[in-house]
Amino acid sequence: MDLLVKNARIVTASRTFESNIGVEGGVIVSVSPTLEPSGAEVYDARGKIVIPGGIDAHTHMELKVTGTSSADDFYTGTVAAACGGITTIVDFVDTQPGETLLGALADYRRRADSKVVIDYGLHMMFKGQNLREIGRIPEIVRDGVPSFKVYTAYKERGLMLEDGDISRVMEKVAGAGGLVAVHAESESIIQRLIEKNLAAGNTGARYHALSRPPEAEAEAISRVTRLAKAAAARIYIVHLSSKAGKQEVENARRRGTNVFAETCPHYLVLTDDVYEREDGRNFVMSPPVKKADDRAALWEGLVQGGVIETVGSDHCPFTSAEKDWGEEDFTKIPNGVPGTEAIIPLLFSEGVKKGRISMFDLVRVTSAASATRFGLAPSKGSIEVGTEADFVVIDPSKRVRMTADVMHSKIDYSIYDDITTEGYPVLTVSRGEVVMEDGEFIGRRGRGRFIPRQAYQK
Ligand code: URP
Ligand code: ZN
Repeated sequence: MDLLVKNARIVTASRTFESNIGVEGGVIVSVSPTLEPSGAEVYDARGKIVIPGGIDAHTHMELKVTGTSSADDFYTGTVAAACGGITTIVDFVDTQPGETLLGALADYRRRADSKVVIDYGLHMMFKGQNLREIGRIPEIVRDGVPSFKVYTAYKERGLMLEDGDISRVMEKVAGAGGLVAVHAESESIIQRLIEKNLAAGNTGARYHALSRPPEAEAEAISRVTRLAKAAAARIYIVHLSSKAGKQEVENARRRGTNVFAETCPHYLVLTDDVYEREDGRNFVMSPPVKKADDRAALWEGLVQGGVIETVGSDHCPFTSAEKDWGEEDFTKIPNGVPGTEAIIPLLFSEGVKKGRISMFDLVRVTSAASATRFGLAPSKGSIEVGTEADFVVIDPSKRVRMTADVMHSKIDYSIYDDITTEGYPVLTVSRGEVVMEDGEFIGRRGRGRFIPRQAYQK
């Protein structure tokens, strides 16, 4: 045996019990209260909580955007993830002009394989330039990339697809047993409000949020869920941010649409007053954070039976110097914030400790449901004999102020520096190797593996 975690209070998505965990060759070989070390390295987890490693199914490492790339590459980004208790990320492949889908996939694999410190999977972004290759979708699904992200907004970045094209992608992905991810915001509503705001000289960060109201999200969700039902497609709404949007997901489910939603840590803990701050530009992401009642509705949606089945980070940070490009025009601020390191600390401290969700909910939305929904189960997402030894130890009383100097993302600020958590991950184990202990990264560059994900049964 390589590692023995003893006196663990284990919590999975459905049960909690005390036991020891034995690990060998990267796999859990025993879960038993009487297990003895037999030469293994021993970690005493008395007084702590052990949960399955987090799965962050929404990251954008080294994403190329106009004039720059997101600040974290696959090394620094996965170090940050590991330090927050994440043991698997699923990133989004973005094709460059002239590049093919398979060429972009190979390029992402090459860049990620040499850097990742935890395991990773990939989704494909599917934009206008990819339509000529729509016939490749079944092959990409067979290659272990069974999910495709479409956008109803960001026309100027070439990301937006027209409704008819979204339907075609949905049909093709559904036929291959895949999943369609949707960035759902109404381009028409947003563009009209941006036009009016800029014409009125309203250029500050707060107008980013005012140009992307809840109606923009709700309208797009209402539309794409109807397109999905007509195409008999399975879809998930990424980064759900509003109560109105959540109600549209619930309505769609009642109509029989195969849909679930993801939300992100920033929508659960921040509100739109952040855009009034001097550093409000650092909080610019799309969709923007909303009001306290939206935030409350999102927490409710995470409780067992709710439509928000997963929490992903949409990790896509930019430095404050890059955020300053939009000092005189909010439309020039690169969109995106850090988050992968914050998911588990914030869900534990702001969610479980404050009674908004149960510990079972936390495990379900950070790991178990993502494993099932994204084709990573049964090897990931639980703590059982035979599963990969991906788990996190949380010290329920460790207080951490989430300032830039304790976070590992390669940026010069933290959007959570006002928050002191009660409880924090203190040990992250990825396929049997300890990669983080007491806030310090101790893993190896390039040790993570690409995980080909399974498609749904057709
Ligand atoms: O503002 C966001 N969500 N940025 C992430 C990158 C993207 O293209 O959505
Ligand atoms: Zn995204």
